[in-house]
Amino acid sequence: MNAQTIADGIYQRYLARTATSRRRDEEAQQVLPGGDTRIATYYAPYPTYMVRGSGCTLYDADGGQYIDFLNNYTSLIHGHAHPAIVEVAADQVMRGTVFGAAAEPQIQLARMLTERVPSIDLVRFANSGTEATMMAMRTARAYTNRNVIVKIDGGYHGSHDFAEVSVYPDTTSNRLPEPHVEGRGVPRSVLNEIMVAPFNDLSGLELILSQHAAVIAAVILEPMPNAGGMVPPQPGYLAGVRRLCDQYGVLLIFDEIVTFRLHSAGMQAIAGVQPDLTALGKIIGGGFPVGAFGGKREIMSQYDPRHPQFIMHTGTFNGNNMTMSAGIAALEHLPQSAIDRVNALGDRLRDGITAAFQAAGIAGQALGFGSLMQVHWTNQPIPAPREAALAARSAGRLQELLHLELLNCGVHIGPRGIICTSTAMTDADITFALDQFAAALATLRPYVAEMTPHLLVNSAP
Ligand SMILES: Cc1ncc(COP(=O)(O)O)c(C=O)c1O
Repeated sequence: MNAQTIADGIYQRYLARTATSRRRDEEAQQVLPGGDTRIATYYAPYPTYMVRGSGCTLYDADGGQYIDFLNNYTSLIHGHAHPAIVEVAADQVMRGTVFGAAAEPQIQLARMLTERVPSIDLVRFANSGTEATMMAMRTARAYTNRNVIVKIDGGYHGSHDFAEVSVYPDTTSNRLPEPHVEGRGVPRSVLNEIMVAPFNDLSGLELILSQHAAVIAAVILEPMPNAGGMVPPQPGYLAGVRRLCDQYGVLLIFDEIVTFRLHSAGMQAIAGVQPDLTALGKIIGGGFPVGAFGGKREIMSQYDPRHPQFIMHTGTFNGNNMTMSAGIAALEHLPQSAIDRVNALGDRLRDGITAAFQAAGIAGQALGFGSLMQVHWTNQPIPAPREAALAARSAGRLQELLHLELLNCGVHIGPRGIICTSTAMTDADITFALDQFAAALATLRPYVAEMTPHLLVNSAP
C-alpha cells in the first residue's frame, strides 16, 4: 500500500465514525472562530465531540468510546466524574458556588497544599495556570524591584503576554536561543522584560545570569517542560539552577502546573530542590478551573492588604467554593500511594510505547517521567525542547496520522502526542493502549518507508 492510500484510509475511517462531530463542527464554525475556544483542542479534519466522561472512558457524540490518555491535558488525575468529587461538587452547588465574601473551603485547600509542599508557606488562588504564572512573575518583580524574568526556550507558562515568548523553541541557533514573541498581538516590548535560556544547560543559564543579574527578578521553569516535549531534567540540573539563582541573587519559580501530579509535593520533591515560588493549577482544582501560586512567607506576605505596599491581586472567582471543594476531594483521594500507582502505570506505558516503536522498526520513543509522557519520532536523545521540535518537524505528518488512527482504535491522546495516566486506569487499560499503538504503528510503517525513510530502523522486522 502506498503512503497516500494509508493516509486516506486513516482519514476515511475517522470520517465514517464521526458524522455527528462533523455536523457539530459546522455549527460551531458559525459562532466560534475555528469552531472552538482552545487552539489545543482543534485538529484536522475536525475534532471529535465528546459528550460524556466516566472514569478513564470518554464517549463521543456518535457512540464511540475511548480510553482517555489526555485527561484534559493532565489535569484530571482521577479521570472523569470521580464519585467522591461528584458528591462534593453536587453538595456545594446546592449551597452556593461563590459568595463574593470570605469562604471556608479555600482555607482547607490552602492548608493541604502548604502541608504537602515544604517550599510553600502561603498560597493564593486564581482561576487558571496562566494567572498563576503571571502572578508569580509579578510577585518576583515586586519583591526584588527588578523587571526581567528568565524563561526556558520551549517552556510554556500559559497565554499571558510575558509567557508568550519562545514557546516554540529556537531551532535556528546552536548557541543561546534568540527570544521571539509567539504570534501576533503579543507586544514586542515584552522582549525587554524576558530573557530565554536553553533547558538542561547550566552554562547557558549562567552566561545570562552573570551578565544581567542586576536586572533579573527570577528564573521561571517547569521542572520538566511539557509542551516542550516532556523532557526530563538531567541529574543535577534543577539543583544547579537553584545554586545559580542563589549565587546571582535571583528568585527561582517552578511552574508545577503539570508536574505537581508526579509527587505529593511536586517534582521539586523528587529533585530535592526548593524554589522560592511555585505556580500550580490543573489537578488541584478537581476538574474545575484553577490556578495557584505560593512560596516563602516573606515573599507571599506582600499580598496581605494590610501591608502598606501590598501587591494587587483579585478576581471574581478566585478561591470559589466549587473549585476549592472539588480540589479538596481530589487531593484527599491522592495520597502518595495513589500517585505511585499512576506513575507506575505511566512507566509501563512509556516503556511499552518505546518498545512498540522498536518492534515496528520505526525510530520513535515516549519520553517523560512517571505518569507524564510525550511521543517523539526519533530514537536519538532529546536533551531540550529544541531537539523535540526538530524531531517533530522531520516527522512530517506522522504524528497527525498516529493521533487519528489511535482515535480510530479507541485511544485518546493529545494531537501533538502528549499522554498521561490517571487513577481510574488499570493495567488492562495500559495493555489495551499498547496493543493499539502496535497496530497503529504497523499500519503506518509503509507510510514511513515511503515518506520518511530516515525514520526506518534497519533491524526492522
Ligand atoms: C506548565 C504550564 N503552565 C501554565 C499553563 C497554563 O494553565 P492554564 O491553561 O490553566 O491557563 C499550562 C497549561 O497547559 C502549563 O502546561
